[in-house]
Amino acid sequence: MIEPFVESDIPSFIALAREEGWVCGAWEFQFLLQNFPQGCLAWREEGKTLGYITSLRHENSGWIGNLLVTSEARRRGIGAKLMEGALDALLSSQEATVWLTASAKGVGLYRKLGFLPIDSINRWKGKGTSDPRAERLPHQDLQTMREVDRAGWGDRRDGLLDVTVGRGWSYCGEHSFLCCQPWEEGTQIGAWGALMETQAELLLDRALGGLLGPVFLDVPAGNLAAASLLTKRKFSIAGSNTLMYLGAQPSYDNKKIFALASMGSMG
Ligand SMILES: CC(C)(COP(=O)(O)OP(=O)(O)OC[C@H]1O[C@@H](n2cnc3c(N)ncnc32)[C@H](O)[C@@H]1OP(=O)(O)O)[C@@H](O)C(=O)NCCC(=O)NCCS
Repeated sequence: MIEPFVESDIPSFIALAREEGWVCGAWEFQFLLQNFPQGCLAWREEGKTLGYITSLRHENSGWIGNLLVTSEARRRGIGAKLMEGALDALLSSQEATVWLTASAKGVGLYRKLGFLPIDSINRWKGKGTSDPRAERLPHQDLQTMREVDRAGWGDRRDGLLDVTVGRGWSYCGEHSFLCCQPWEEGTQIGAWGALMETQAELLLDRALGGLLGPVFLDVPAGNLAAASLLTKRKFSIAGSNTLMYLGAQPSYDNKKIFALASMGSMG
């Protein structure tokens, strides 16, 4: 049966997610449980937890993530029940649009529930340039970040931006921002947004100049400028998911979104 996802579920979820190759950390779940606990659920049978899902609320939209069913319990309808539970929670709190990124295993399930594809999200991998001439001093301007992010996603996502900015460092320029987040696997770039490619490029070089090891980021495939900037810097695509939505058509402008804030699960 469906029960709340609670703090003590976090270590077992992370262990399962690592088996799937997902990048996630405990801070993410602490944030999700604080932001919208009614949309974070677990499927339990006889004291065993067989599946998980999380949801996040923005101002007018929601995001479903972290749908994961243990391999031995798959194809029994648990994934669909968890999705229904999360959707009920988001729709009863009046979210106009619900987003998610779908892995190849998840697309069929989401299509049946009415989700429509709107873009692909490519995982790009590369390296920092550790350029001694680069300006390393981070500069943070929350107001710019919020406005540029809203121009891309058509919604205010202040809570998500605050938590991602808070766990790393960020650069801001004219109508542009770029956040860096540290992970065991390397540095994630994202959220990264800009109204123009030239502004995005300045911040990318500033960020890469301060980094040496592996760098990865999740980028809307429809942002061709981002692809060109990354290709020129010898980044390549390591995987891809489908960005899908349900409900009101969002005012989504992928030319202003250069990288997602999270590794898929929060947008
Ligand atoms: C994707 C995932 C969550 C689906 O969970 P699940 O519990 O297997 O999902 P369901 O059982 O509700 O549905 C999965 C499929 O089984 C089918 N199914 C459901 N009940 C069934 C049953 N009793 N007998 C046979 N098939 C069944 C569904 O019709 C669905 O078919 P589809 O593949 O054509 O869409 C699971 O495969 C998983 O955890 N994968 C790894 C992580 C992942 O990719 N998560 C998604 C991230 S976007």
